[in-house]
Amino acid sequence: MNIIVTGGAGFIGSNFVFHMLKAHPDYRIICVDKLTYAGNLSTLKSVMDNPNFRFCKIDICDREAIYKLFEEEHPDMVVNFAAESHVDRSIENPQLFLETNIMGTSVLMDACRKYGIKRYHQVSTDEVYGDLPLDRPDLFFTEETPIHTSSPYSSSKASADLLVLAYHRTYGLPVTISRCSNNYGPYHFPEKLIPLMIINALNDKPLPVYGEGLNVRDWLYVEDHCRAIDLIIHKGRVGEVYNVGGHNEMRNIDIVKIICEQLGKPESLITHVADRKGHDRRYAIDPTKIHDELGWEPETMFADGIKKTIQWYLDNKDWWEDIVSGEYQNYYKKMYENR
Ligand code: NAD
Ligand code: TYD
Repeated sequence: MNIIVTGGAGFIGSNFVFHMLKAHPDYRIICVDKLTYAGNLSTLKSVMDNPNFRFCKIDICDREAIYKLFEEEHPDMVVNFAAESHVDRSIENPQLFLETNIMGTSVLMDACRKYGIKRYHQVSTDEVYGDLPLDRPDLFFTEETPIHTSSPYSSSKASADLLVLAYHRTYGLPVTISRCSNNYGPYHFPEKLIPLMIINALNDKPLPVYGEGLNVRDWLYVEDHCRAIDLIIHKGRVGEVYNVGGHNEMRNIDIVKIICEQLGKPESLITHVADRKGHDRRYAIDPTKIHDELGWEPETMFADGIKKTIQWYLDNKDWWEDIVSGEYQNYYKKMYENR
């Protein structure tokens, strides 16, 4: 089996590459990544010499390069992680999100149509469902919840999902879509909540909580997400959407307090800053479908997952120090100074 994994130098994509090479030692994994600010070749160094792995620096919007790769590799499947993924950046510059997340998806699917494919899998997000009110803990996102987006990021992901379903209906492309809740774990880019707070706390820097910190996210350890996608591409029904989440809802402020506690840092580092524009209140996935149809359930509980994640950031300072000492500093200043 030849599988193209796009966005494999990013957070979830790299974890998926590691998972697949381990779980299916006879598969060939071809990683396609543009290496944007969020992609990091050093993340993949442990698999670079694996004979079943190939890395290709390609922009998924580059039709010619993508077609050429299909002619070379004859992939059986494509799993598309490549995306601009940060909500705050999408608020600053929506255009780039439309290009990669929507146009890039269409280029990949056109290649699948032209050359043939057994499965095209789109890695989507629960953010396409918009948000839930904080005072209705009885409500969850199911696959039938209407698409109702808030940010340019989630709108671009929802647009891509609609296009994927349209390619299935119109051209019969064998597609599946997964919509997962917030992930955490190793190689999470420092701009996102959990790594940002771990790294700032380690450096005794302020911990910038947006607003009151009462917004709720449903956290899943990244390896559980990778296992879910592995199941969907092998056993999921074509044309279907699968929600992925482990019923682990937490308020942002509580996550930050746990990080302080685990690192032995004072909560006085917590600084409330101006809220995100259009900030989604609560995400919560109902994973009944993937559980009942494919037998998936999360294996790592948050109490263990956050410990493992913090330990990973302690053990891999070189990885993140390299990132935060570069261009990231300008980003950080722009987003957080005078906020
Ligand atoms: P990330 O930002 O860490 O990684 C994205 C990767 O895509 C990077 O390696 C980047 O270089 C690459 N990329 C960006 N534009 C590209 C392009 N035009 N061509 C080729 N490669 C390109 O993101 P992530 O957190 O790993 O998310 C991966 C996917 O999972 C995204 O599609 C995201 O929407 C989805 N998702 C993420 C979460 C989460 O909590 N992080 C939850 C649900 C779904
Ligand atoms: P984030 O990791 O950006 O993921 P998403 O917006 O896709 O859920 O943010 C998670 C939550 O943490 C979100 O409610 C915004 C909040 N947040 C902060 O309070 N401070 C921060 O510095 C960041 C990056 C996020």
